[in-house]
Parts: sequence; structure tokens; C-alpha cells
Amino acid sequence: MDIMAITGDGIGPEVINSTLQILEILNENFNASITPFVYDINSKTLVAGKWKYEKIIDEAKKFKAILKAPIGDPQIRTQEGTEVALDVVLGLRFALDLYANIRPVRLLPGVTSPLKKFTLAGSIDYVIVRENSEGLYSSHFGGLILRDDVAVDVQVITKKGTERIAEMAFELARSRNGSPSDKIKKVLCVDKSNVLKSFAFYRKIFKEVSRKYNDIQIDFMYVDAAAQYMIQYPDKLDVVVTENMFGDILSDLGAATVGGLGLAYSANLSKERGMFEPVHGSAVDIAGKNIANPVAMILSLSMMLTWLGKKELADNLEKAVFTVMESGSTTPDLGGKETTSSFTTKVINTLLQL
Ligand code: IPM
Ligand code: MN
Repeated sequence: MDIMAITGDGIGPEVINSTLQILEILNENFNASITPFVYDINSKTLVAGKWKYEKIIDEAKKFKAILKAPIGDPQIRTQEGTEVALDVVLGLRFALDLYANIRPVRLLPGVTSPLKKFTLAGSIDYVIVRENSEGLYSSHFGGLILRDDVAVDVQVITKKGTERIAEMAFELARSRNGSPSDKIKKVLCVDKSNVLKSFAFYRKIFKEVSRKYNDIQIDFMYVDAAAQYMIQYPDKLDVVVTENMFGDILSDLGAATVGGLGLAYSANLSKERGMFEPVHGSAVDIAGKNIANPVAMILSLSMMLTWLGKKELADNLEKAVFTVMESGSTTPDLGGKETTSSFTTKVINTLLQL
């Protein structure tokens, strides 16, 4: 099958090149049968007019799956001050209605968590299900600066949006093995319903949906308390479902507890389509130095393979990545000496020996 590959900004081209090299090996040696169509969409090609937002969406609609490197350059901004390329990231998510942003938080082999209690791979293993089509981010395409002295962004929470993300969270909980500490399958609903009506509504809809899932435990937390809980008891978490902006913030926090953003991978899903991308940004400060950690991008590919029904292939890829990480070969963000390319070569060599 054909997939779209977007090269992005900053470290994007480096990490996606690594990943596409690995995909080539999977094609040649493991019959992956996935043909990437590479698109050089980034802030510069956007500003130069080579890519227009509508054209990107039209192209993306031709594919069931998209592998996307980080895109965005803090130097290249719109007149209002937001980054030019954000319309691409948010545009793809909104226009393709990729309403569920699935962000695993997993302590992987060979990684030291800054949380001292957690030394074993797998002792932290939960998933943040971030609502990806509304919430405060809906305001991106309509925020207002009034009279030069007031700015307003509006949060949108709908019944349909909340129902479908809650269902996604419960289905995911069903498919998993519960939290590492007690093996109980559970969904934690995170909001700020003590303060905002939109969140009280969100919680009400979540409760209604939960009645269809009596086999799954439900819990509730305000977002501030959830942030604390993620540091103190991450091993008690299984599936966490939350609003768009909260999910953005909490997923960086979660990533920090399991080795940082270099390892955090994700899927943006609708029922028909998936876009798979690292949680991290384009890190322009370290671009072109061959030191970026490609793991988040590589594991985004493995998540895509699982979603495409190629689970065995995804498991092999994960196994190869974990074997290399466990042997102590890591990039500088994890304290190692590997370059982006030497790490990739090791993954490829390990794959070929499986
Ligand atoms: C993320 C990123 C994006 C977001 C940016 C690049 C728009 O931070 O995927 O978490 O805020 O969602
Ligand atoms: Mn983010």
C-alpha cells in the first residue's frame, strides 16, 4: 500500500530519513509492502508557495496512512505571531477529522526514568487519549484580538466529540492489560469541571458513555491533580482521556517521566485514516547535526504498522529498537554517543539478525 511521508522542519528530515531507511529494510526483507510517497512540506516550501494548505489536504486525502515528521520553525511566523506551519499540523488533524490523538507513555528498555522508584521497563505504561478535533485548539482558526488590548480564544466541547473520544478510550482500555501496578483496566477522565462549564458538560457526557463499559473502572481528576498524579503514581495509570490542550501539555509531562520527547510517539486517528508522528517538535537548534534521537519517529512507524494490521512487523521493529537501546547505544539526549545515523544502522543490523 501507499503512504504519505511528510519531511517537515528542523530535525524532521533527519529522523524521517532514518525511519524510511528502516522501512526499506522492512520492505526488502519482511514483505512490508508499504510504498512511501515523500512530500517536502516544511515552513520554507510553504512560504515559497510551493505548497498551499488546500493542496496538502487534497494530497493527504489520497492516503489511508501518513507518516509525519515534526514541522514548524519558530523563525517563520504569520503576521499574528503563530508559526506558519502550524496550519499544516492542525489543518491535517482538523480537516481529516483525526479526532483521537493516542500518545503512549511507556518506560522503554534501556531508559532511566527521572522518577527514582521506576527502574523496570514497563513499570510505567499508560496511554494519553487526547481529543484532537475541538477543545481550546478549535480556536486556532478563529481566535480574536479585540481593539488591540484584549485577546479571546474559545473552547468548544461537543457531545459528539466527547462521545467518540470517550468510546475510543474505553475500547483502548479493553484491548490493554490494565495498569502495571494492579492490572485493573481503567479510564481516567481529566478535566477542570470545577471551574468551566464546558468541562462539566464533558464529564457528564463521559459518564453517559461509561455506562456501556461496565468492565472498565472509571476515575475522575482535575488536570492540576492529574499532573501531580502522573509524577507520583504513574504505574497506577492505564488510559487517560482528556481535552486537546490538556492532552498537549500532559503528554509532554508524561514523556519527561519516561526519558523525554525523543522517545514519545503518537497516532492521530479517525475511523478511516491515521497520521503517525513524534510528539516532539522540530528542534531547529539541533537540526543538521546528526544527533537527533530518531526513536520517536521510528516507533511512530511501528504504531502505523500495528494500525495497518501488520502487528508482527511492528513487534519486530520494536524488538530491534529496544535491543539496541538496552545495549546502551543511545543518542546524546539519553546520555549516549550514537548519532542519528549510527543508531539507525544498529537498528537495521539488529532487524536483519532477527
Ligand atoms: C504536539 C505539538 C503540536 C500541538 C503543535 C506543533 C501544533 O505540540 O503535537 O503536541 O500543540 O498539538
Ligand atoms: Mn505538544
